[in-house]
Amino acid sequence: MKVLIIGSGGREHALAWAISKSPELTKLYVAPGNPGTAEIAENIPLRALDSQGIVEFSLKNKVDLVIPGPEAPLVAGIADALAAVGIACLGPSAAAAQLEGSKVFMKEIADSAGIPTAGWQKFFESQAAHDYVDVMGAPIVVKADGLAAGKGVVVAATVDEAHNAITSIMEDRVHGMAGAAVVIEQCLVGEEISLFALCDGEAALFFGAAADHKRVGEGDTGPNTGGMGAIYNPPWATEDVIRRGMDEVIRPALTEMARRGLPFRGFIFAGLMVEPDGPKLIEFNVRFGDPECETILPMVSSDILPVLMAAAGGRLGEAKISWKNGSAATVVMCAKGYPGAYATGSEIFGLDEAAGLPGVTIFHAGTMAERGGVLANGGRVLAINAVGGDLAEALSRAYAAVDRLDWDDGFCRRDIGRRALAR
Ligand code: AMP
Ligand code: GLY
Repeated sequence: MKVLIIGSGGREHALAWAISKSPELTKLYVAPGNPGTAEIAENIPLRALDSQGIVEFSLKNKVDLVIPGPEAPLVAGIADALAAVGIACLGPSAAAAQLEGSKVFMKEIADSAGIPTAGWQKFFESQAAHDYVDVMGAPIVVKADGLAAGKGVVVAATVDEAHNAITSIMEDRVHGMAGAAVVIEQCLVGEEISLFALCDGEAALFFGAAADHKRVGEGDTGPNTGGMGAIYNPPWATEDVIRRGMDEVIRPALTEMARRGLPFRGFIFAGLMVEPDGPKLIEFNVRFGDPECETILPMVSSDILPVLMAAAGGRLGEAKISWKNGSAATVVMCAKGYPGAYATGSEIFGLDEAAGLPGVTIFHAGTMAERGGVLANGGRVLAINAVGGDLAEALSRAYAAVDRLDWDDGFCRRDIGRRALAR
């Protein structure tokens, strides 16, 4: 079987790493990939958003399955373009990808499906949004409707902060057209989990739970990032929370999407807040999470390729995956300055030694290969995963790998998993 993965981050390296072990694989391509994927697959110089190039390449090379990693190509319609030429794609149509592409759409699906989520209102005009904030008070959450590179959400502790968020999103259009509408919603309180399921349009197969660490600073301080680290199955993702997340959030959403003629295929990612009376939906994403993917896939003990193929073909049926015992954690190494401005081009030493430590796998995110070395080439540069007998062991192995690296221009959070360990 020939597979093409689209994207160039740590998530795509982890997907390539897991799929490369499948006995059913005959050829693996990644477009455009990174130096990590180059070691286990053939990198193809096509941009993730080059739909036409990807379709032509897939036809010419008889690719059996295309797996888009990030949301942007899905929202732009890569699944539709591939479907039109009869190539299987593990990802939703552009219309179904609106589950991530529009927060208004996502909340409407949640309400029609009876999914527990924060109470909300949509606004297409800023004055009405300001008035609503004055009535509701703080804390309150203001969200740009469209995709804003993870920066479109403001959890406002005060009414002033909420007004400022509305002004910058709707009036100053700091996220462009993504701010043509806002969702204003009630603030949820609790611990968050990222819950994943593989979907075939109707059925959903649980694909792991993790906790991300979104803030750049230790103790969850500072600005939001794409994710500074993750732990597998945090203690607040109890069996009951996962069962309710699948039954009360993910399955009703799939049923509602199918009812609207928008069957959802691919990985669905529910961001959940675990409140005392159960999990509440914060948001849906139409893809695997990053660094959650790098954290969950090393815990899978069975071949994922047949299951991914079954989902893409609409026949998930009795497909199953098996899990390892123990736990896993991922620490993300970033270029100093991230999520603000950062420099690229510094060399990272010690990668082979670090990757040789017990339980450790290093996934490349923003790197480039030059003169036989590996250089930093992005904000999030490496995702350092380790598996272990329990979370404490996984974390100490991941940090041992971090300590083995020699990279002056990099940094990471030193407190990944600390709240889970304290439980
Ligand atoms: P997003 O960019 O949509 O992933 O949201 C970023 C983060 O904002 C989430 O991971 C939550 O930590 C937080 N957030 C979003 N909506 C709410 C809410 N209604 N209540 C509390 N926190 C929220
Ligand atoms: N780590 C969160 C995300 O992938 O959106």
